[in-house]
Amino acid sequence: MRRILVTSALPYANGPLHFGHILEAVQTDIWARAMRLSGHECRYVCADDTHGTPIMLKAQAEGITPEELIAGIEAEHRATYQDFLIDHAFFHSTHSDENRLCTETIFKALDAAGHITRRSIRQAYDETAQMFLPDRYVKGMCPKCDAQDQYGDSCEVCGATYSPSDLKNPLSVISGTPPVERESEHLFFHLAAFESMLKEWTRSGAIHESVANKLEEWFSGGLRDWDISRDAPYFGFEIPGHPGKYFYVWLDAPVGYMAASLALAKRDGLIFDDWWSADSTAELHHFIGKDILYFHTLFWPAVLQGAGYRRPTQVHAHGFLTVNGQKMSKSRGTFITGRRYLERLPPEPLRYYFAAKLGPGIDDMDLSLEDFVSRFNSDVVGKLVNIASRCAGFVARGGGHLAPKLPDPNLYDEFAAVAHRIASLYESRDFIAAIREIAALADRANQYIDAQKPWNLAKDPARVDDVLAVCTQGINLFRTLMTYLSPVLPAMAERAGKFLGHPILRWDDVQQPLLGSVLAPYEPLATRLDPKVVATLIEETPAAAPTPTAVTTPKAEAATPANTVAVVAPPSPDGKGEVTIDDFSKLDLRVGKVLECGLVDGSDKLLRLQIDLGNGDVRQIFSGIRESYSPEAMIGRHVVVIANLKPRKMRFGISQGMVLCASNDSPGVFLVSPDEGGAPGMTVT
Ligand code: 2FM
Ligand code: ZN
Repeated sequence: MRRILVTSALPYANGPLHFGHILEAVQTDIWARAMRLSGHECRYVCADDTHGTPIMLKAQAEGITPEELIAGIEAEHRATYQDFLIDHAFFHSTHSDENRLCTETIFKALDAAGHITRRSIRQAYDETAQMFLPDRYVKGMCPKCDAQDQYGDSCEVCGATYSPSDLKNPLSVISGTPPVERESEHLFFHLAAFESMLKEWTRSGAIHESVANKLEEWFSGGLRDWDISRDAPYFGFEIPGHPGKYFYVWLDAPVGYMAASLALAKRDGLIFDDWWSADSTAELHHFIGKDILYFHTLFWPAVLQGAGYRRPTQVHAHGFLTVNGQKMSKSRGTFITGRRYLERLPPEPLRYYFAAKLGPGIDDMDLSLEDFVSRFNSDVVGKLVNIASRCAGFVARGGGHLAPKLPDPNLYDEFAAVAHRIASLYESRDFIAAIREIAALADRANQYIDAQKPWNLAKDPARVDDVLAVCTQGINLFRTLMTYLSPVLPAMAERAGKFLGHPILRWDDVQQPLLGSVLAPYEPLATRLDPKVVATLIEETPAAAPTPTAVTTPKAEAATPANTVAVVAPPSPDGKGEVTIDDFSKLDLRVGKVLECGLVDGSDKLLRLQIDLGNGDVRQIFSGIRESYSPEAMIGRHVVVIANLKPRKMRFGISQGMVLCASNDSPGVFLVSPDEGGAPGMTVT
């Protein structure tokens, strides 16, 4: 058993949690839950990051104390994390006794070891507000390109970086008056002394290869001293022995990881040193966004080492989140808060979607609302829940007991055999691959049930045992899949555990199928997302940009009825010319099963279909069949699809194939379907 402490970056206590925070917390939470399913002791701690100038000024503007401000925000953060099923062992605050103690201890140890130096610096000072100004609180004209209204550290127009004193006509953002330059003594942490240790640490597997290059750049640029003090007025901890000087927020923020674990240790009778002493055998994992790598891969390990503590085992960075292909932005309405989401939707679909798109590297991730709806509805409701709901009724009608043995133990063993592989994919943060494997298994489970047809067997009273056996197999396959998804869908897994009469606790539980036991009455485990509700996640704003998917060309528009082709109509008199068998064989014609079907807003010809083409291949296809078929009539139908048609970008989304229909000059079209026995994935020849 490994002993693991895991953290995600501490959210800044000046506003609500947004989707970027939720993405990171979900990633960390899934990882921690997966580690616990392997039998490891894994505790996830977090806290609010509460200090610094922005919080001090925000409280002033609201006419409250910073303590009042951060208390209100902490309550919101706690509730939001909880509602997203984030299982923190402890959620703390950097404005706490534990954090003061840890920060002071670290500072004293660094100072005693000679890692702290003092020197005077000149800085912008606002004489009206009587405070030193952080770079971002001075604005003026860019010294390079003369752009107006640029921050004191960099120009958003030409990209130049500089210091506030270089700005032309600088003004304080706080009072609007021109700042003066003032001298003040600051304390610095001598980072360069840790260069060789940091190089060794980065090569120890502590960071993913995708961020190693970034670190190389920093090393070759030289490690500069780090200014760890700020002058009063400042909301933070005063530095012992230095009246009027405060620890810079970025010094005490990561110490908040320690403080949270100290509070946890006190509450639960655990030993703080087990995690933090220099010779600790526990693992320490930090999940962060790639924007704060410098703090976590240079300053933080150096501070820990310099103060006599252990270094992090690994720092896991993720990329940024975009919404519908664009940077989250308040003016576009795509800055989605956790609370806005929770007011409309349950947490697990979003957890699932994030998991389905999270890989181990630092690539950015896009949340496409349309893809979100279709992934959850098709994978979780259409495939996973479908297995349980189809089988539960037959088991209940057979008396509620599972059969005493499995009719296809080999199939079950194949499912159970991947438990360790799934566990290691979660551990390496390749959630994309884990979800892909699980979805492919869910297809196989559904194929098994489709092939066995318990609904047909049930018509014959002599085959009642066979029905139960098939459904026992189905329920056990479902249980395996639910176990594999339980880090992602913990509430659903808990409900499934109640239904199965066995809680889902360990990966290894699936090595033993459930046989002969009683099932509790089946309650629906998940419901479909309504795209109309999902669409309201994006706020309507007057400044809203046109929908990014609206890359409409006249050609794409015209794709409406032509998306359906007539294959059984007689050749037109003018003929289409002969084709060879080779021409024909270029077409990948496959049988698909319609999993979902809905209307398309803004089109009276199209239906939007989710079609299962077998082997985990689920496509979105727009088809011009609305005049002839209702969405309800389509669900569950088998159709024939051209699977290798180049995807077409339409106004409503991407169409990934074409459904074959027969038609002639009279109105209406007729779907081409295989005879009974045709199943998803079959090739049409
Ligand atoms: O970037 C941020 O939002 C910081 N509040 C993260 C702090 S992480 C840790 F160092 F505390
Ligand atoms: Zn400029």
